[in-house]
Amino acid sequence: MQSPDFGLLINNLIDRKAAETAGPIPCVVVAVDLPKSRCDVRPLISTLYQDGTFSERPIVLGVPIVWPTTSRSAMTFPISVGDTVMCIPAEANMDQFKVGIGQPFPPDDHRRNSEQDYIAVPGLAPFPKSVNNPVIRNWDHNVNDFVISHNISTGDEVEIRLTQSGDIYINSKHKVHLKAEHIELESDTMAVNVGQTTWNGNISHTGNYTMTGQARFNGVLFDTHKHVGVTPGNGISGVVTA
Ligand SMILES: [Fe+2]
Repeated sequence: MQSPDFGLLINNLIDRKAAETAGPIPCVVVAVDLPKSRCDVRPLISTLYQDGTFSERPIVLGVPIVWPTTSRSAMTFPISVGDTVMCIPAEANMDQFKVGIGQPFPPDDHRRNSEQDYIAVPGLAPFPKSVNNPVIRNWDHNVNDFVISHNISTGDEVEIRLTQSGDIYINSKHKVHLKAEHIELESDTMAVNVGQTTWNGNISHTGNYTMTGQARFNGVLFDTHKHVGVTPGNGISGVVTA
């Protein structure tokens, strides 16, 4: 009978114990609950043992998603099944934190650095899936711009772009809405290059007005309009007619 390789056994034992201590690891999202800011994830790196065998890590349920938010401010965006995230374990059991209101609490048990206490940070992706790659963008993308983008790689891609040269662009293939009690534009000059505009409401204008083209007032062409009932001398002309 061959004697067991105790060194290998001990190494395997150490590996298995080490595998029980979680650390930061890339994961793929397998389910997501956006209103609750939580997802289920599968760690993407299998556990590899000294003898060359490996095992896929189990799915972790109910992982809180870290977004840049506070109680009064938020930047949120959809996370999809198949997205990759960085999962980092909390030092201790954070089950009570998940259902609490942000007050100190005793942990439910003594577990440390467990995958059960992962938090998910979106933004980690393999190099080939980098969303910063200009090739996959519908809008011209300079990686030195500051950009907030949505619907990347689709026909609905939309973005707010602060360029390296100091310009700002809002790019959309659909609508841009501004809604406020008062909207003010301040500039030395402004160009409105729009094929058709519709103004609903009164216009008050101070300053000179220069126009090229036809103007109609209540349907009467201004350039060639006439008057009926014209009175001679000091009289006052009659009403406008076409
Ligand atoms: Fe006139």
